[in-house]
Amino acid sequence: MRDPKRVAVLISGRGSNMRALVGSSKGYEIVLVASNKPNAEGLAWARACGLSTWAMESKGVGKEEFDRILNEALEKRDVGTIALAGFMRILSPWFVDKWSGRIVNIHPSLLPKYRGLDTHVRAIEAGDEMSGCSVHIVTEELDAGEVLGRAEVRIQDGDTPQSLEQRVLAAEHELYPKVLSKFVNR
Ligand code: GRF
Repeated sequence: MRDPKRVAVLISGRGSNMRALVGSSKGYEIVLVASNKPNAEGLAWARACGLSTWAMESKGVGKEEFDRILNEALEKRDVGTIALAGFMRILSPWFVDKWSGRIVNIHPSLLPKYRGLDTHVRAIEAGDEMSGCSVHIVTEELDAGEVLGRAEVRIQDGDTPQSLEQRVLAAEHELYPKVLSKFVNR
């Protein structure tokens, strides 16, 4: 059994949640930052910090084929837990099953509300009072696994999806490290 405190963060873009996980890593260690986009902004930051990184373009590669190669990289680093942080790719059933119960994700809504994309637009259009973010276990069904923690953010008059996103993102950066630390030390 691998040490759950050895965490890999998977990103596809700017990686602000990854930076928060690195910056507040208490109770776990980020042993790998991996990406399906070799030019991801967050990857350059991770490299500059001296973190171990891995990247391979996923476009044009079969879903499971990519995941098997990614899996090798994770095993090489003795990863015990995977934290998805803006990883814009659906993982194959093979991968999710292999890592069952050991993959977590941060999602910008109060799950089970608004699974999938465009969460801020949907929350504003619905006239919701509260939005927020959730950390959950990844299962085969999109954004549907057990919720480990949530943070609420009030929707203000005149909020745009962008202004709401900014405040929710700040809440994500606080919530994710705390929930991850609790999860790997449970
Ligand atoms: C965040 O909003 C996160 O909730 C969602 O994707 C976005 C990633 O942003 N899963 P960043 O790359 O962490 O800045």
